[in-house]
Amino acid sequence: MTQPARSDMNRILIIGGTGSIGRLVAARLLQLGRLPRVLTRDPDRAQRPLPSGVEVVAGELADPTAVRGAVDGVDAVVMTHGAPYGSGNYAAVDYGAVPAVLDALDEHRVPIVLMSSIGVTASGGQSRELLEWKRRGERLLRVTGLPYTIVRPGWFDAGSSSHQQVDLRQGDLTEYGPVRRDHVAETIVQALLTESARGRTVEVFSANGPTITDWPGAFLAAEPDRPGDLDGARDRPGPRPEAEPERVRADLRRHSHTPLTPDI
Ligand SMILES: NC(=O)c1ccc[n+]([C@@H]2O[C@H](COP(=O)([O-])OP(=O)(O)OC[C@H]3O[C@@H](n4cnc5c(N)ncnc54)[C@H](OP(=O)(O)O)[C@@H]3O)[C@@H](O)[C@H]2O)c1
Repeated sequence: MTQPARSDMNRILIIGGTGSIGRLVAARLLQLGRLPRVLTRDPDRAQRPLPSGVEVVAGELADPTAVRGAVDGVDAVVMTHGAPYGSGNYAAVDYGAVPAVLDALDEHRVPIVLMSSIGVTASGGQSRELLEWKRRGERLLRVTGLPYTIVRPGWFDAGSSSHQQVDLRQGDLTEYGPVRRDHVAETIVQALLTESARGRTVEVFSANGPTITDWPGAFLAAEPDRPGDLDGARDRPGPRPEAEPERVRADLRRHSHTPLTPDI
């Protein structure tokens, strides 16, 4: 795979860096000579899946002091966190991580790559509550005006092990599609380090075919999100902001780069 273009991005915080995707992101960044920092609730347990050289900081997303400490001095943030399925902690964790990081960053404007999921714009389904909260996190990040990329993976390692191609799509139209975990991690790393990935929302799958060798070109081929728009470029329109829970409206008011219409 090609080497990333950005060389001015060294210390990179990974929220969810002990998870099944985040630890691959941390290892790959280390391999590329960057300085990954991982926030975890349990540093002793965290050391096991992580290679030496990854900085581990203790903290919980709900603790603003810990999150402020974690973002201190970073050049970029990757978010691959998630509450356990069935836990019901989606508002606090899957969504809550986004305003927690934005609050902690304050005026410090750095690139952010957010891992979300396919299916966030669909209606119905067993995972609806989880996906709605993930979508709210996406929408909040889009209106910040920060240089962001949103990566929505398909189903992790679901029969995709022999597929060599990273397949980027848009519009959230694929209900079921497998993706290799290493392909998700590589897409996140390349999105972080590639200028043409900014302001874009992509789904990632694994397919048969050649590997991507031109990441800048692959991201450039994706339609950019419209600046200030809550939804991804090719997404079905989401709920009106005034229909969102008060907590979300407050976060939108606090972090939106431009005034939202209507005024919420
Ligand atoms: N499975 C799929 O096919 C699929 C497809 C698309 C998207 N997804 C999404 O991917 C996510 C799971 O990714 P994964 O497998 O890499 O994650 P994972 O292995 O379940 O790890 C979850 C990560 O989130 C962190 N985390 C959770 N609660 C936290 C809190 N309160 N404070 C700080 N950190 C917290 C954990 O950190 P510590 O435990 O170290 O504190 C851990 O690093 C889920 O959100 C899921 O919806 C899954």
